[in-house]
Amino acid sequence: MEDQFGHRISYLRVSITDRCNERCNYCMPRELQEWLPREEILNYEETLRLIRIAADLGVTKIRVTGGEPLVRRDILNFIREIPKIPGITSLGISTNGTLLTHKTESGQTMASALRAAGVQSINISLDTLDRHLYAQITGRDFHQQALDGIEAAIAAGFEQIKINTVLMRGRNEDQLIPLIEFAASRNLILRFIEMMPVSTTEVLSDENFLPIAEAKRAIEKQFGALIPEQSFRTNGPATYYQVPGRNQRIGFIGAMTNLHFCESCNKLRLTCDGKLRPCLGSYLEFDIMKPLRAGASDHALRQFFLDVVDRKPEQHDFRNNYQPDRKMIAIGG
Ligand SMILES: C[S@@+](CC[C@H](N)C(=O)[O-])C[C@H]1O[C@@H](n2cnc3c(N)ncnc32)[C@H](O)[C@@H]1O
Ligand code: SF4
Repeated sequence: MEDQFGHRISYLRVSITDRCNERCNYCMPRELQEWLPREEILNYEETLRLIRIAADLGVTKIRVTGGEPLVRRDILNFIREIPKIPGITSLGISTNGTLLTHKTESGQTMASALRAAGVQSINISLDTLDRHLYAQITGRDFHQQALDGIEAAIAAGFEQIKINTVLMRGRNEDQLIPLIEFAASRNLILRFIEMMPVSTTEVLSDENFLPIAEAKRAIEKQFGALIPEQSFRTNGPATYYQVPGRNQRIGFIGAMTNLHFCESCNKLRLTCDGKLRPCLGSYLEFDIMKPLRAGASDHALRQFFLDVVDRKPEQHDFRNNYQPDRKMIAIGG
């Protein structure tokens, strides 16, 4: 699948739930969250059918996300089916990490069970090493669970573990160096992410937006000039650097300030309620659940995917004061 601007689509992010056990204030509104009713969520069979169709069209990489994907019941049986789909060569999951130590029926941790089910890479969100700040940001006192989850992921032997940190001025600026040390001591890839306007506007003001360039400067003050790593790509939008004098890779995801951000985009999103989104930062979404439930053939669904890809914008709309009407938690980050 290729769009009008030469983006070759090989990566599908699949959100399997809008629910979450945390309440990060950049991701969801503070008001009482109303979850989608069950019948409006794609069931696993429906989701797997759409992944199969995407794979037919050249998607090789799947990342399962949410909401918090690990709050959805029976996730392991779903995950196990994904690597069996012809064409899928890469399977990842994004999680807040808090449920990775949970014991599954087999007695393994959730982390080990995910690894055994075929997950190769895991992205875990961690914005701070400070318990109180963590509770402030996430609305939950689950810091220790998140840290234990990271250790469980390390023990489970994933091919790649990335820690994702959203940059927030006035909140976690002083956490950059401690997080780098934390990642270094565990040999994890750390990525700093610019906050995007996908939540309530009050959270995303000029006062709390911290651009990656500023974070990079603060890091370079401590460690010296970061060494760009042109050759290392994870199929994602991050730019990577080596921390000088040590064998450590860190990444920056600058959706807001990097003007070339969209050039190498290879991504499509499937929301948990069956909408295909060609771009996170655009209002465009297309309801594939409707034809799916109305009995559409594989051929028709393939055509649906191609039509969506054809409408993929050249770049996102965030810089034009775009305020989407859906929260990140509902789109699937
Ligand atoms: C929506 S979450 C879903 C998966 C999982 N619950 C988690 O927290 O990793 C995926 C990622 O999106 C990030 N995210 C959420 N809202 C964001 C925002 N407004 N700007 C930038 N990143 C955001 C989170 O920090 C997380 O790393
Ligand atoms: S970022 Fe992840 S953990 Fe935080 S509220 Fe959103 S879905 Fe939940």
